[in-house]
Amino acid sequence: MRQKIIIGNWKMHKTIKEANQFLLDFDDFSKSCKAKGVELGIAPSFLCLESLTRKSRFTLIASQNVNAVDSGAFTGEISIPMLQEIGVKYSLVGHSERRTYYAETSETCNAKNLALFAHNMYPIYCVGETLEQYEKGKSKEVVKEQLVKGLKGVKADDINHLIVAYEPIWSIGTGKNASVEIAEDICHFIRTTIAGLYNETCANKVRIQYGGSVKPENAKAYLSCEDIDGVLVGGASLETVTFKALVNTIL
Ligand code: 13P
Repeated sequence: MRQKIIIGNWKMHKTIKEANQFLLDFDDFSKSCKAKGVELGIAPSFLCLESLTRKSRFTLIASQNVNAVDSGAFTGEISIPMLQEIGVKYSLVGHSERRTYYAETSETCNAKNLALFAHNMYPIYCVGETLEQYEKGKSKEVVKEQLVKGLKGVKADDINHLIVAYEPIWSIGTGKNASVEIAEDICHFIRTTIAGLYNETCANKVRIQYGGSVKPENAKAYLSCEDIDGVLVGGASLETVTFKALVNTIL
């Protein structure tokens, strides 16, 4: 049985002060989620990571990005050992905003995925197609290529700890969430692709999230699907009232 997992991706929102206020409003609620077996996480800005790992009861704190190299002349970058020192165990890899605005490719994501696993950290590997690719019926082809390239060389033992987030780009921040049928179809496809690349046992352990305009009104429908183990939430994770309402739909 895979544990349900809801992660709020704050993107470039919230100062440290605002994040701390969020924690105050959310703390008892995170405790009750843990008691009910739902894994709840936040991916804040780099600056807020330390206070979240120290002060919050979120069971999963993720960086939004990471560099594949341990140290070196890479101005503006953050390394895996830096994250580990403050207790961070997860990182988003290949979010579509990073692929679009910072030219990340499945090859650079692959280096990050491999480096994270080598340090006993875990990627939340994001995949998903553009609107044009979706309209041309290429969603599965695109997602498969992102999986094959991004997971190249990752060992089967590590795959057990992988989280994959299917986030169709056309649904992110647009209010046009993918229908439950589309989301389940692609998440099922992701699982069968992983079974093909590895084996059924691995595929059954991988947790797969859907992300893209997830709101309190639609979260439960996604989380009731066979192959959708969680949701990755942008806008609706920024306010405690909305995020609590969203999580409450499955408690
Ligand atoms: P929205 O929930 O705002 O559409 O963002 C989704 C997302 O990109 C989460 O990583």
